[in-house]
Amino acid sequence: MTQNAALFSPVQMGALDLPNRVLMAPLTRNRAQGDGTPKAMAVPYYRQRASAGLIFTEATQISAMGKGYLDTPGIYTEAQVTAWKKVTDAIHAAGGRVFLQLWHVGRISHSSLLPDGRAPLSASAIRADAQTFTANGFEDCSTPDAMTEVQITQTLAEYRHAAKSAKEAGFDGIEVHAANGYLLDQFLQDGSNHRDDAYGGSIENRMRFLQEVLDVVGEIWSPDRTGVRLSPLGQANDISDTDPETLFAAVIEMLDSRKLAYLHMVEAFPGSTPNDDDSALIDRLRQLWSGFYIANGGYEAQSASDAITSGTADAVTFGRPFIANPDLPERFRIGAKLNEPDADTFYGGDETGYTDYPFMDHPADKVA
Ligand SMILES: Cc1cc2nc3c(=O)[nH]c(=O)nc-3n(C[C@H](O)[C@H](O)[C@H](O)COP(=O)(O)O)c2cc1C
Repeated sequence: MTQNAALFSPVQMGALDLPNRVLMAPLTRNRAQGDGTPKAMAVPYYRQRASAGLIFTEATQISAMGKGYLDTPGIYTEAQVTAWKKVTDAIHAAGGRVFLQLWHVGRISHSSLLPDGRAPLSASAIRADAQTFTANGFEDCSTPDAMTEVQITQTLAEYRHAAKSAKEAGFDGIEVHAANGYLLDQFLQDGSNHRDDAYGGSIENRMRFLQEVLDVVGEIWSPDRTGVRLSPLGQANDISDTDPETLFAAVIEMLDSRKLAYLHMVEAFPGSTPNDDDSALIDRLRQLWSGFYIANGGYEAQSASDAITSGTADAVTFGRPFIANPDLPERFRIGAKLNEPDADTFYGGDETGYTDYPFMDHPADKVA
């Protein structure tokens, strides 16, 4: 018998037909080669999860300057494109769909991870009170340089190149990562953006860089294969704004006018529990969006199903549950027990905790 039936009603999202509403959240796993080329084990990892209504890849840097952690993948060299093509082919052969999450970390980086030991780039030269993971383990983020207009133009060209590379690699669409305190979020929020040029000050100015990114990737991908991820509660990477509601209301209205495939909202980041005010803020912001809405953060089968039934979400992404349960949709469908994720193997390592989580291979496992 199908449980949580709302999760299994097919739906159209932009140009895609999704067979279910159980989507895989973007999940950094730090298992690429040092040069950002995905390793062969990424192929079975993603193929195992192809029953998701849609897979969002782990955040993937658009350029060498966009990297902020050890062993994350990129999408700007030929070798990276070739390796990702094997991943997309495997997902498609297994009947799945996949969007690439385009990432530039901005100031959430360390000079040792960047070309020639350079300083990271950000909206302003303000160090994030945050850590990143380097060859030496956890280290404080380096103080960034404030991007010049030339560097902004260069970074836009990198976004365009990455978007083009994603198409060559066979992805079904792209997600512009504007969440979790990374570069685009650093431009949006006034805790990290103290600029006094056309990219700082007013909300209109702070949104400019995100809009320009959407313009350049829009030369490659139609809006119905492009989405954006936002995290208005600012729970990660030392990001903050003096008036997040006014800011994100403007951002969402701007995105809405672009008729994108979806808005993907981080409603709760691991380790942060939203209070009633936070939840009310998310509720109000969501209502400004008229398109396909993807909710994320701490959902379970029942709460996701309730959100879809009540119309507060069109689909839900699952992060940690998908790490541990390659067959998550089927487990939800029959109400099966879930494998527990092992946080010790989230970031870095080998196949352990990556491709070795068991599928339901025995009827006894199917009983909750
Ligand atoms: C191991 C791990 C890696 C993550 N990597 C990313 C990422 O690459 N991009 C991103 O936008 N969010 C990332 N997140 C956040 C998840 O996409 C998601 O927002 C979070 O896990 C909450 O969803 P959940 O409660 O279903 O796990 C990551 C979270 C975890 C636990």
